[in-house]
Amino acid sequence: MSQQHRTMLVTSALPYANGSIHLGHLVEYIQTDIWVRFQKMRGHDCTYVCADDAHGTPIMLRARQEGIEPEALIGKMNAEHQADFAGFYIGFDNYYSTHSEENRAFAEDIYLKLRDGGHIDRRTIRQFYDPEKEMFLPDRFIKGTCPKCGAEDQYGDNCEVCGATYDAAELKNPRSVLSGTAPVEKESEHYFFKLSDFTDMLHDYLQQATQPEVANKMNEWLEAGLQDWDISRDAPYFGFRIPDTTDKYFYVWLDAPMGYMASFKDYCKRNHLNFGDWWDQGSSAELYHFIGKDILRFHTLFWPAVLEGAGYRKPTRVFAHGFLTVNGQKMSKSRGTFINARTWLDHLDPEYLRYYYAAKLSGGIDDIDLNLDDFVARINSDLVGKYVNIASRTANFIVRHFNGELLSTKEYGDHETEGGARIIAEAFEQREYNRAVREIMRMADSTNQFFDENEPWKLAKDPAQKDKLHKVCSRILHAFYVLSIFLTPVLPAMSRRVARELFGMSRDFIWADLDSFPEHINPFKHLAKRVEPGAVTAMLEASRESLAVTESEPAAGPLADEPVADTIAFEDFARVDLRVVKIVKAEAVEKADKLLRLTLDLGGETRTVFAGIKSAYAPEDLEGKLTVMVANLAPRKMRFGVSEGMVLAAGPGGKELFILEPHQGAQPGMKVK
Ligand code: 2FM
Ligand code: ZN
Repeated sequence: MSQQHRTMLVTSALPYANGSIHLGHLVEYIQTDIWVRFQKMRGHDCTYVCADDAHGTPIMLRARQEGIEPEALIGKMNAEHQADFAGFYIGFDNYYSTHSEENRAFAEDIYLKLRDGGHIDRRTIRQFYDPEKEMFLPDRFIKGTCPKCGAEDQYGDNCEVCGATYDAAELKNPRSVLSGTAPVEKESEHYFFKLSDFTDMLHDYLQQATQPEVANKMNEWLEAGLQDWDISRDAPYFGFRIPDTTDKYFYVWLDAPMGYMASFKDYCKRNHLNFGDWWDQGSSAELYHFIGKDILRFHTLFWPAVLEGAGYRKPTRVFAHGFLTVNGQKMSKSRGTFINARTWLDHLDPEYLRYYYAAKLSGGIDDIDLNLDDFVARINSDLVGKYVNIASRTANFIVRHFNGELLSTKEYGDHETEGGARIIAEAFEQREYNRAVREIMRMADSTNQFFDENEPWKLAKDPAQKDKLHKVCSRILHAFYVLSIFLTPVLPAMSRRVARELFGMSRDFIWADLDSFPEHINPFKHLAKRVEPGAVTAMLEASRESLAVTESEPAAGPLADEPVADTIAFEDFARVDLRVVKIVKAEAVEKADKLLRLTLDLGGETRTVFAGIKSAYAPEDLEGKLTVMVANLAPRKMRFGVSEGMVLAAGPGGKELFILEPHQGAQPGMKVK
């Protein structure tokens, strides 16, 4: 196997520091990790770095809501993220944060180079400002009536009803999502990166650095003409201050990709490497970014232009992947398919998800579907029924009859593995893991067929066939050895046990192990168990539960999401007693991340309700507000006390959760009809 030695630096997108890792994120980390493990097995110098993306308005606001400093929030999330990734065997060489001194230095230095190169413009723009919260409002924090179709409650940048996109200034009746007050327009000076200075460079770059279907799409943008990119935000903002200003900060997306450099810089320091060997212009190291297709613009236009403008090398390739659906639909909290990494780890083997994703992933940007019935069937038939089964039914013959000694390939008559190895290596290299897995399972099928045809259990009973038994079983175990090497990037933990426990090696498999074959095996130890469909049901239940109790609700469940059943009878609806209530008291619940304890006045009667709206509201903002509650819900015992009803809220979750607010003229206790 002749191949030249390569030096590579690989990244996955940096997850935001205000949310937990879920199965959607994991598509990318698993995809990248498989590729990196493959490259390392091949003997290349391949380094995999990542970090938390720690800046921006949502993170600042989330910390405020939790009543902690942003530094405390991002510290806590960084630890949580790293634990989740480790659970899925994502083998980062370094995991860092964009809120680091290295990253501050890069942001400032790169900005100054861009400015001195004439690529930064300053001009005054008008923007919505929340006078109560004393801050400028990003578009997502403004809502109002769509200027095109009149739909109410639409975001400041686009209408979800008619699909129109517009400027926040065009919105009718705008109001701040944070305070509910009408925002005012206010002027502010902003800093712009002149992206169009790099149009020609980007035109060539896109052809060589992106997948063909991506390059076509991006070219449409080039042809439409590149707009200047607003890279500044006004205080208050959690981020890095722009040099020579007192109250301007770098927009989170400016310093986020620099986090790749900062993480690697930290790695270099601890490993005594020269950063410039990877990042200087003309470097022979390869640089790869794995990302989701939603953030292509940042990685294939802004980022290469920023690097070029500041005198650094550009990424060799940017690999985009599609989104995840679960059972054919968007992940949904009400169906329990919005599954966090931790919830999966509580119920199922992480390597089973790695295997399933690998079986589905191609090198393109198509979405992939996690169909949970198919998942159970596939793990049980492929991984347990085909792969593990080869060793579990063969190893004993060698241990019992031959003291664990294996014949060499020459002694049993060689069989061809080199062709398969080439196809599989090529498929991994091209990120066509589905093709690799298909080929691996084809070889597992033919090995199992060879077992069945030779009936070793019969050979074992006939002393005259002892030699044949030895040859047949050695050959089958050789195939198992080869398959285990092929599966190592996908199943690192299982493969490690095969290498060490079964084949008695003192290290993990590398690709070159295909050229040799051990002389001995140890007794087979149990490797993998079938997936019980009950474990999947329990995981879905727990994902729903974490919504109902610990995560966000009772309040937002059915409203935040698609209804579970399509319709209910009018009689059912009529039984729901909806009342206007006044929130007289709102308090955080100790040890509950998402819950607030609300004391509600129903016009004389007082109720206590636990609502999962802490991520969206500070308690003091709720006190005195009117809202709507389900008054005849049977009391529910929750972890923190009894909840006597439900308040109604709408929104996708997190900070975008809005309690329903009746007109101020309504009185507590009024029936809602
Ligand atoms: O879209 C996201 O989740 C971003 N946090 C990704 C950042 S990737 C890199 F540029 F930092
Ligand atoms: Zn509209």
